[in-house]
Amino acid sequence: MTPMVLTDLAQAAPRTGFLPAPPGAINARQMWANNRFWMETQNLVTKRYGGKRKQHWYALLVGMKVFEWGLKRLGQYQRGWVNATNIVLRDLELRFARLPRAFDGFTILHISDPHLDGQPGIEDRIVELCRGREFDLCVLTGDYRTELHGPIRAVMASLDKIVRGVRSREGFLGVLGNHDDCHMVAPMEAMGIRMLINENVVLTRGADRLRVLGTDDVHYYYTDQSLHALEAARDDFSIALVHSPELFDAAAEAGVALYLCGHTHGGQVCLPGGHAPLKHLRAGRHLFTGHWHHGGMQGVTNTGAGTSGIPVRFNTRSEILALRLVAA
Ligand SMILES: [Fe+2]
Repeated sequence: MTPMVLTDLAQAAPRTGFLPAPPGAINARQMWANNRFWMETQNLVTKRYGGKRKQHWYALLVGMKVFEWGLKRLGQYQRGWVNATNIVLRDLELRFARLPRAFDGFTILHISDPHLDGQPGIEDRIVELCRGREFDLCVLTGDYRTELHGPIRAVMASLDKIVRGVRSREGFLGVLGNHDDCHMVAPMEAMGIRMLINENVVLTRGADRLRVLGTDDVHYYYTDQSLHALEAARDDFSIALVHSPELFDAAAEAGVALYLCGHTHGGQVCLPGGHAPLKHLRAGRHLFTGHWHHGGMQGVTNTGAGTSGIPVRFNTRSEILALRLVAA
């Protein structure tokens, strides 16, 4: 693999009102990239309360192949495929007592888990859904591809279509998911997405401030740097972008007001009634879908625009979310 080229953070957010990245951010990025690259190449999964293990995919891959074969035999595969491609744009209003007045009515387009190599045309569908609308901010919470290793050029080209086709006044903020590798950061920033790798930015409107923090994925690639990133939440009304809900308790304790995540696909293949046999979560399993509260924090677990593993859905919807923040 080619070595990662780090983007100069000062050039990385060309069309936003974000305050500049703090001094030293480049070195923190370099340290992060070295560690992330090592974990990726070793197929390591690191856990929040210590320990790491090698991930072995054989049993899961065989299980998925058997399930896919069964769906085809039962004539259900095509139905599941069509279900998955039927992405909806869902509007959701979120009310906060301590929202700064200048951000009352602030709109956020939340896109998660598009897995752009999973099914063709997902990026076109997203752009189509957003046609005629303009958002204050667009946030991306990871899993831009399905494969865990290999080339990224095609996925980056699809993502670039979304960035060019969606209208966002303050630009785009993104974090990585567990399917994404560290080499994606530079091309994503080159297309205008400000990546938050255990970092934060502040949006200002007059004297009012809104802080957005983002962590690296904590499902496979947990490090304590993600907890340190949350510590900035106390200073302002803060939104956390984390790929999965698994940091919910730490974020609430840190003072985060709104936690935006995805990863679970809402179960992707659910039983009638919404029961999800597979959630792929080690913590926060009850937060696997929808709008939720924990302590004084609100959260939204996006069901994702795409699919992981087998490109089918049953009893779940593919979605992108138009969130509107309202002062209660
Ligand atoms: Fe994920």
